[in-house]
Amino acid sequence: MADIRDQVCAAYSVAAKAPEQQHPFPVGRRFAESVGYSPELLDEWPGPASRFCGTSCVAAFADIPAGARVLDLGCGGGLDSLLAARRTGPGGTVTAVDFSAAMLEVARAAAEEADLGNIDFRRGDAETIPAENSSVDVALVNGIFNLNPRREAIFQELARVLKPGGKVFGAEIIRREAPGPLRGVVRALVTSSSNTDNWFA
Ligand SMILES: C[S@@+](CC[C@H](N)C(=O)[O-])C[C@H]1O[C@@H](n2cnc3c(N)ncnc32)[C@H](O)[C@@H]1O
Repeated sequence: MADIRDQVCAAYSVAAKAPEQQHPFPVGRRFAESVGYSPELLDEWPGPASRFCGTSCVAAFADIPAGARVLDLGCGGGLDSLLAARRTGPGGTVTAVDFSAAMLEVARAAAEEADLGNIDFRRGDAETIPAENSSVDVALVNGIFNLNPRREAIFQELARVLKPGGKVFGAEIIRREAPGPLRGVVRALVTSSSNTDNWFA
């Protein structure tokens, strides 16, 4: 069985390329609106809105000062990255990281269209974040911990890249077990090196 990361990456790449299809997780504009993104914002960025698959409107509630250096970890189609880039203004930067090239392509196209030149898109893994030590003021993490059994590694990496006093704003699903329709999917994704206990821990 392929590595769990390959399977997660493949599932989100399919969502990036064909968001209108059925996926084993919620995707899209209606879902984004239901977790709090404003309709005006979603109208403005239809590509990222249609690929939204996070768990809350993290960039909308995060404290992102002008000039901040922001990391959007698991940026997906880039809704939070775009919002953060606008909030930091041209004096700040956003490093948007995802391991799905297809998701990054959507996010990059939207940033170009919006003329937001202060986002640096990097393909990479949250377990080895492609960012310098102590370089980030604000990290946004919208819904990737539930996809990664090696969460400790991600927390360690966040601690490494944050500046002293830097902040992490995140949102996550916390469940004891998968909802009925997803149980088979989770069982299929869980490999011999992990189990459903550490998946939901
Ligand atoms: C639940 S989606 C959230 C996407 C985005 N934050 C949003 O709010 O729409 C998770 C995203 O994180 C990416 N991802 C998951 N695990 C990752 C990892 N270990 N390293 C890099 N990207 C990861 C997936 O490819 C996907 O685009």
